[in-house]
Amino acid sequence: MRLLTLRLTISLIVGITLISLFSSYYEVRSQRRGLRRDLEHRAEVLAENLADQVEPYLNLNQASRKNLQQTIDRFGIREHLAGIAIYNPQGESIAITPGLVPQLTGEAAVVQQAATKGQSAGQYSRLGETSVYIYALPLRQNEAVVGGLAIVHDASYINAQSRRVWRDTFLRVLVLVFLLTLTTLLIVRWSITGPLARATQWMRALRTSKISSRPAMPDLDLFRPLAHEMTTFAASLVAARSAAEKEAQLRHAGDTFWTAERLSVHVRGMLGTSRLFVVANREPYIHRRQGKSVEAMVPASGLVTALEPVLCACDGTWIAHGSGDADRETVDKHDRLRVPPDDPRYTLRRVWMSKEEEEGYYYGFANEGLWPLCHIAHTRPTFRVSDWEHYERANRRFADAVLKEMEGMDRPVLLAQDYHFALLPRMIKKARPDARVAIFWHIPWPNPEAFGICPWQRELVDGLLGADLIGFHIQSHCTNFLQTVDRALESRIDWEHFTVNREEHRTVVKPFPISVEFPENPPPVEAGASPSASPSIERVALLRELGIEADFLGVGVDRVDYTKGILERFLAIERLMEKHPFYREKFTFLQIGAPSRTRIKRYNDLLIEVEAEANRINERFQTGKWKPILLMKRQHSHHEIQRFYRTADLCLVTSLHDGMNLVAKEFVAARQDEQGVLVLSRFTGAARELPDALLVNPYDIEQMAEAIRVAVEMDSEERKTRMQRMRKVVRERNIYRWAGNLIAELCEVRLDEPANRLESQMGTAPAEQSAEAIGVDQPIDDFDHARPVTAAGDQVGAPLERRQGVGHGH
Ligand code: G6P
Repeated sequence: MRLLTLRLTISLIVGITLISLFSSYYEVRSQRRGLRRDLEHRAEVLAENLADQVEPYLNLNQASRKNLQQTIDRFGIREHLAGIAIYNPQGESIAITPGLVPQLTGEAAVVQQAATKGQSAGQYSRLGETSVYIYALPLRQNEAVVGGLAIVHDASYINAQSRRVWRDTFLRVLVLVFLLTLTTLLIVRWSITGPLARATQWMRALRTSKISSRPAMPDLDLFRPLAHEMTTFAASLVAARSAAEKEAQLRHAGDTFWTAERLSVHVRGMLGTSRLFVVANREPYIHRRQGKSVEAMVPASGLVTALEPVLCACDGTWIAHGSGDADRETVDKHDRLRVPPDDPRYTLRRVWMSKEEEEGYYYGFANEGLWPLCHIAHTRPTFRVSDWEHYERANRRFADAVLKEMEGMDRPVLLAQDYHFALLPRMIKKARPDARVAIFWHIPWPNPEAFGICPWQRELVDGLLGADLIGFHIQSHCTNFLQTVDRALESRIDWEHFTVNREEHRTVVKPFPISVEFPENPPPVEAGASPSASPSIERVALLRELGIEADFLGVGVDRVDYTKGILERFLAIERLMEKHPFYREKFTFLQIGAPSRTRIKRYNDLLIEVEAEANRINERFQTGKWKPILLMKRQHSHHEIQRFYRTADLCLVTSLHDGMNLVAKEFVAARQDEQGVLVLSRFTGAARELPDALLVNPYDIEQMAEAIRVAVEMDSEERKTRMQRMRKVVRERNIYRWAGNLIAELCEVRLDEPANRLESQMGTAPAEQSAEAIGVDQPIDDFDHARPVTAAGDQVGAPLERRQGVGHGH
């Protein structure tokens, strides 16, 4: 940096000096010319005047000479005039002013020229030490040259003047150089070296600090545009360091921990030259028009939360419905774009659908039919033929898009997602038998009696069985599915290995509990912001922003969906206020409710109902700046939600039925302080993995109210122990492990050896017994009434027991 400043300063000095010298040189030259011209002119005028006066005295008598001498003596007293001399035609002086006598002889060329040849001329020369200008004029009588007149001016004042200009220039340059150098140094210091030094210090601190204590980004002034890039760069650096650290821990801890890097190496090894494709209805980035600009937003979806890190790690292609009003403007001619917008890591391929198609396929069959069918939440499914036809057509449309993306690729790997695409696995497999196809069902699969009410259960199950692998969150969903297959279709089920053999194709059915990313580092600090405050300080700021006063804070984050038990949760809060008035004016529950699928009447009604219920309860209890429920009815970004998770005393996840529920895992992942209590519905997949949560039955309002009280009153040590245990689970069973296991299982499927052919050649058949006959581990009874919470809350967190035997219907 010093060298740079020195170079800059030297360049400035040299530059300024050269420019000043050149301009001064021209100034001096033109001034000198002017002065000389002026002098020559004056000499000429004087000579001519004098000639007129002296010519009459040129006869050589003594009186005339005297007159001659007097005349030139009189003329000789003028500024800068050194002297005057008169010559005879031979060039000998006949009169001369006294100062000139010893110096000027008649031999001067101009004098000779004037006196002898009759030509006037001027010449600069030196008389001794003095620089002079001599102007000589012929003197005539009756046209004949009778002598010469020389006017000698002292020209040294011209040189003196030039020297003065040079000296002034030098001083001016000196002051200028000093001032400019000073200004430059100050500017460099304030705007360049200062911010650079701060940036360097910041980067050094980043390099040397612990991953967990990331320093805040300084204000980089002029380099502010660079700050964003540097933050991204720093984030990558931190990520790389933490990955390396994790790798080391991994080596130390054996095989338990999965990272994005490990997944990416693992998947690359598995895929070889092939690629990973994901098809999901919901796209990870929706482009929406906001006035004149277009904004990319991330939808509220557990599926998106889970899959985004996987795609980033593997650089695959995500094929999804382009649902944003500016989606078409942001794709290329193949309907593709690279995402995430800030840091492109994988390809998003959009599939278009008309409003009518979306109505039938997405709102109709998927969300009014399959969604309530699979969730036992007492909302009746609606099945319409037209919706079913749209569903079939949409599956075809997506399958065609997937096949197009797979063109030219050997043995591609496809992970289809969710209940929107039950028919797609068979469509793909038919066209591309070399493709490895898995489908992951993100929602529960109910028991066969419940599923059996669907008029198209056979088609759905058959479509799914086109996959090589079907994944559910938990074992009981796998068992429910196999039992449904057993009832709906001709097939052979191997209960020992959980596979289905149908039409020479084998499908493996397995649980893969989905999860979230587990951030090891504190969230990045934005430029200019102070480093993350402690949760309690953060909470004070948050409550102030929300205009609320409360001592205890609970949080709930959901799409407003009837499966999430939001109304039940509100009732539990009301019950808490009734039973324990101590919590009035002290406990506030913050519900983040992202409106969802509101074109469906049931969802729209629910949104109204949730708001009305919150208002009713608030009106009953609220005082001053306190209210029991704060409903924030809009979608919040992942980043915004982290703040609520970090600062809450407890998180309520009270789904009536849920495949997994990633809010529970996100809350745990966010609690780096190892505090906070999770109150979790036992009817979520997450309850199987997080027995250290306070497990509740959301239909039991009394029990939920008690669980909230227990959570608030739980001592810090107990909270810490539970949170540490839950964090260990979520950390080890993170999203990378989910994807790694799913892809590994899929890649192990042998495509070249259809199961049935082998079995028939060997003359053996897989076990075709019913689940009951072999006493297979059967589903946990999701709706087993939870045990009541004791005052100490110990029963609430007790692990669920597994039951033998076929699960009962709901
Ligand atoms: C559940 C489903 C996802 C779906 C998400 C959000 O998690 O399993 O497939 O994306 O809800 O619902 P939406 O209908 O808005 O995509």
